[in-house]
Amino acid sequence: MGADTPPARLDHHALERSETAWLGVAVVMTALLFVGVLASVVSGTYPSLKADAGHAHVGGIVRGRVDPKNLAATPFAKPGLVVDAAGQPMVNDQGTLDAYLVAGNFTFQPAVLRVPAGVPVTLHVTATDVAHGFQVTGTTINAEILPGHVAALTVTFRHPGEQHAICNEYCGVGHHNMITRFIVEPPTQPTSKETK
Ligand code: CUA
Repeated sequence: MGADTPPARLDHHALERSETAWLGVAVVMTALLFVGVLASVVSGTYPSLKADAGHAHVGGIVRGRVDPKNLAATPFAKPGLVVDAAGQPMVNDQGTLDAYLVAGNFTFQPAVLRVPAGVPVTLHVTATDVAHGFQVTGTTINAEILPGHVAALTVTFRHPGEQHAICNEYCGVGHHNMITRFIVEPPTQPTSKETK
């Protein structure tokens, strides 16, 4: 290239000004992220994860492990909320309700999961075939589901409403069909009256 076209001379001060502007953008974004995280922690529905430690030897589930070929011998044989003979949700020794979900064959079982609002529910999720995702829309519930492993998430849904549980990890040709209704119902037993 010709020596007759010298490179445009960079204006030192102009460069500093634009750098300052971009630094300002980064600072604003960081502040927004911080506020957003705080707001979600304060207001959001978010799970606490545990490796099923509280249910160390419940029906074939041993320390978060399960035989994916033998789910019939585990509570996963009856997917859904655990209820007693009268159909009332049963509180476990950890003080939460239990719900069991199985991912596999491009479906979630149960097809519709109903859980009550306002009480802690432990969702136990496992897979029968390959790795799946488990995400509940409108919440930060998001876990990877592996055959042989039980993901246990304890969560309290604050507001009744209908959401979806979806698979967010590509698992095969039917991946996009893996969506199930997730219904948070108003609390059945009247707890202390709260004004919204
Ligand atoms: Cu299951 Cu994607």
